[in-house]
Amino acid sequence: MSTMVVWFVFLAIMFLNNAGVAGQADDTGFVSIDCGLAGNSSYKDASSTLTYSSEEAFIDTGTNHNISAAYVTSTLSPHYLNVRSFSNGIRNCYTIRSLVKGEKYLVRATFMYGNYDGLNKGVIFDLHIGVNYWKTVNISNPDKRTIAEVIFVAPVDYIQVCLVNTGLGTPFISSLDLRPMKNSLYPLANSSQSLALQHRLNAGPTDTTIIRYPDDPHDRMWEPWSNYPYWTEITTSSHVQNVQNDIFEVPSVVLQTAVTPVNATPANTSELKFFWLPDPPDKDPEYLANLHVSELMNLTKDQKREFNITLNDAMFSPGPFSPEPLYANAVYGFKPVHGRQQYILTLKATANSTLPPIINAVEVFVVLQVSGIPTDSADVSAINTIKSQYQIKRDWYGDPCVPKTYAWDGLNCSDAVSGSPRITVLRLASSGLTGEVTNAFANLKALQTLDLSHNNLTGSIPAVLSELPSLALLDLTGNKLNGSIPSALLKKSKDGSLTLRVADNADLCYDGTECNQSKKKSNSSKITIAIIVPIVVVLILAAAGILIICKFRRPGSSKKPSINPQNPENPDISSTMNTSLQLENHQFTYRDLKQITNNFQREIGRGGFGVVYRGCLVDGTQVAVKMQCDRSTQEVNDFMVEAQHLIRIHHRNLVSLVGYCNDQNCLALVLEYMSEGSLQDHLRGRARGGQPLTWRERIQIALDSAIGLQYLHKGCNPPLIHQDVKPNNILLNAKLEAKIADFGVSKAFRSNEDTHVSVSSPVGTKGYIDPEYFMTLRLTEKSDVYSFGVVLLQIITGQPAIIEGTGPNSEYVNVTAWVRQRLSRGNIESVVDARMQGDYDINSVWKAADVALKCSAENGAHRPTMTEVVVQLKECIELEVAAGRNHNIYSGNSSNGHPSGVCQNGIHAIEQQLVSITMAGGPIMR
Ligand SMILES: *[C@@H]1O[C@H](CO)[C@@H](O)[C@H](O)[C@H]1NC(C)=O
Ligand SMILES: *[C@@H]1O[C@H](CO)[C@@H](O)[C@H](O)[C@H]1NC(C)=O
Ligand SMILES: *[C@@H]1O[C@H](CO)[C@@H](O)[C@H](O)[C@H]1NC(C)=O
Ligand SMILES: *[C@@H]1O[C@H](CO)[C@@H](O)[C@H](O)[C@H]1NC(C)=O
Ligand SMILES: *[C@@H]1O[C@H](CO)[C@@H](O)[C@H](O)[C@H]1NC(C)=O
Ligand SMILES: *[C@@H]1O[C@H](CO)[C@@H](O)[C@H](O)[C@H]1NC(C)=O
Ligand SMILES: *[C@@H]1O[C@H](CO)[C@@H](O)[C@H](O)[C@H]1NC(C)=O
Repeated sequence: MSTMVVWFVFLAIMFLNNAGVAGQADDTGFVSIDCGLAGNSSYKDASSTLTYSSEEAFIDTGTNHNISAAYVTSTLSPHYLNVRSFSNGIRNCYTIRSLVKGEKYLVRATFMYGNYDGLNKGVIFDLHIGVNYWKTVNISNPDKRTIAEVIFVAPVDYIQVCLVNTGLGTPFISSLDLRPMKNSLYPLANSSQSLALQHRLNAGPTDTTIIRYPDDPHDRMWEPWSNYPYWTEITTSSHVQNVQNDIFEVPSVVLQTAVTPVNATPANTSELKFFWLPDPPDKDPEYLANLHVSELMNLTKDQKREFNITLNDAMFSPGPFSPEPLYANAVYGFKPVHGRQQYILTLKATANSTLPPIINAVEVFVVLQVSGIPTDSADVSAINTIKSQYQIKRDWYGDPCVPKTYAWDGLNCSDAVSGSPRITVLRLASSGLTGEVTNAFANLKALQTLDLSHNNLTGSIPAVLSELPSLALLDLTGNKLNGSIPSALLKKSKDGSLTLRVADNADLCYDGTECNQSKKKSNSSKITIAIIVPIVVVLILAAAGILIICKFRRPGSSKKPSINPQNPENPDISSTMNTSLQLENHQFTYRDLKQITNNFQREIGRGGFGVVYRGCLVDGTQVAVKMQCDRSTQEVNDFMVEAQHLIRIHHRNLVSLVGYCNDQNCLALVLEYMSEGSLQDHLRGRARGGQPLTWRERIQIALDSAIGLQYLHKGCNPPLIHQDVKPNNILLNAKLEAKIADFGVSKAFRSNEDTHVSVSSPVGTKGYIDPEYFMTLRLTEKSDVYSFGVVLLQIITGQPAIIEGTGPNSEYVNVTAWVRQRLSRGNIESVVDARMQGDYDINSVWKAADVALKCSAENGAHRPTMTEVVVQLKECIELEVAAGRNHNIYSGNSSNGHPSGVCQNGIHAIEQQLVSITMAGGPIMR
């Protein structure tokens, strides 16, 4: 380690009277804002018992939105149901007043996108705390909850939390909390540095409950953290005491659970290991870590728990460390570390230890240097008075001068060489100011230039302006000021210390004499009348003209827009239409369809495209007819292009397009009829009388679908990307052969249904959309691979793409995260669809799960191609066939090492005891 790092151990000092130091912190001073809450309302949050209110008192910009109903769940914390978004202005800020300067506070902001704007798009923006950068918020997933927290010392008696638009989407926020902290807590947060939270983990619990207020009187959020089966939980029901002058006051309930390695024999060589990665990697953040350790067992005389703690290769604890029973010990660094690719903490038992190491809780912080000093508070209050008095509509939010990049336009500030920046120049020329010149200008004591020219200011010039010590230029040209110029200003102007401009103020008296105002008044009222009359006449004429024009236009405009193949505006289509004789054979008229479907008698489904009817061609072939009426000309044209394309594509694993129709403003696709319905029906138990698919059937369906997709990607010219791979679009025929449906159709039919979104946004269905595509809007075949991975996981698990959790605070979670989380504990049985009743070859299932997780990798480049997927799935089938299974062979066996052969690859978490502190698909935030 290049920098000398000093570490400090905070040991318990046993005093009997310190029980309950954590005690009942008074909750006065808590500010809990539910951003986007309608009107001036508030409610009591059931889980935290805290009262959340709307932001009326804290901000006056932004608009409220409810998140999309698709993301509303019964277990979602209410503050996520609505957001405030800021499409105007670079920097929008919440201002929380009534802080005490120099006191310590915790501020927490939460974010859940929930497609509130219907754009289904990722967004990245910055957060500032006061005038300092805090964090970059990167929202790439509509149902992911993001929590930002910072502990800081208030530099002034208010704090502003600013959302800064960095050009990567509209900032928004779900909630904002302020919690006063005792100054003695987190001593490393001080007036020159703040602590931004990276992780706060409660080791032990395997459920999803986050501990916060009232269990933690400071309302920190402790996320559950475990690494089953490598770590095991130790708990106690006894109270764990805070030490005297505890600088962390971790609540007992957090410390009452701990983890220790399993099978730690011999104990004196065992270790606990975990790591985190710099985030963002390119910024090389500086980290501080706190380890909270408490002995929870009653140790006998010959038992000893002692371990060394190292960070990467350097000692973190100054020497061997033995946690005290039921006391809140902490080991923490106070010199930040940085410059590493990863940060690995190792707790390693010493040679004399008879017990393995334990850990109860971990906190990791990024150190933020407090570099910006806010503008002088008297200046801030004066400029805010000016802003509100004249209702200045400029991007004037946050601190007026700091940071410089976002300083308010129209003013200059002095540099903060020592102390706070001051406003030195204020230019409000031609800003539509009306009313009198406010005395607040005179409170900008460092003002050198004040330009109020070309406004509609009235009244007299306030004499207090002459008291501004540094004022060198006062420009009042082109207003409606009256009265006489204060003599003190005239004097300064005469002695050359002030440049005073007052021209074009008709009623202003330069020499102190009375002005004749009545004459001017009558003149102006005459002018007003002269102007008003002609305008009214013109308006009446214009209105009449509109009526006349409408009358003549009407018959023409009501004409039905025709869909003419010879449409000269679209020569490409018309020429194809004329030359492609083959195509004509596939064209049906509305009357044909009526006949085929026996007057649209049997409706067999409804979807994004419209209604689906069952029909029968003259030759007896069964078909499905998908109908949609009332489409625009553009949509019809798109459809025609697409239909011509699709009709040429034939493959055993793609649903064939028999023909199409664009008659009577109705579009229709005539498709091969798939008698067994969709894979979705089978997974949901809505087919074959609820009889579940066997593993052999499932894996065959997966393979068929993969081959279909592979053909779209590699066999078609130009290649086709499906964009909406999901079980609904995988159809089964009587032999349970799977075929991909609706390929290319998503492009032709962008329906209004919420599963499909507009051209500039990702197309697809929630739960299946490739997160990378969602972020970048760059569509590749790997996006289909991602969706296919989700489908494959559903085939294995029988779960929906988005699973509702079960715990009291649990949320919806994507099936990929759900499977990852369970498989990291090494247990395949816990994810496999129970309806198969264990009737599958476990190697085959492992391998399929491995393929599925690779397909759903975050990074598209890491996903396999469909060709590779096909090869892997064929091997899964071979494994299943070769197994010659007996139902019980593998049950209870999977913990004794892993199935042999290929299936061992891929799920590295199982092989590795090193656990990421972040954990893929980790604890669910509430
Ligand atoms: C909002 O409610 C508070 C307290 O109930 C009240 O003082 C305030 O005037 C209200 N504001 C508006 C705009 O209704
Ligand atoms: C959000 O939903 C609530 C309750 O359903 C409703 O009162 C409110 O007006 C909605 N807000 C917006 C911005 O649509
Ligand atoms: C935002 O998050 C996405 C998904 O995690 C990631 O791929 C991307 O690089 C991030 N962008 C930035 C600017 O950090
Ligand atoms: C430890 O000892 C105390 C008192 O001696 C007892 O109350 C407690 O239950 C014991 N705890 C365990 C885990 O045995
Ligand atoms: C623990 O640290 C001590 C002192 O720093 C050292 O002597 C000892 O070898 C270390 N033990 C292990 C197991 O690393
Ligand atoms: C281990 O125990 C032995 C005997 O009790 C003692 O001499 C030695 O100093 C201990 N070593 C450490 C590292 O504590
Ligand atoms: C002043 O107000 C008049 C109407 O009252 C308006 O026409 C004019 O544009 C305003 N002048 C300025 C400079 O804003």
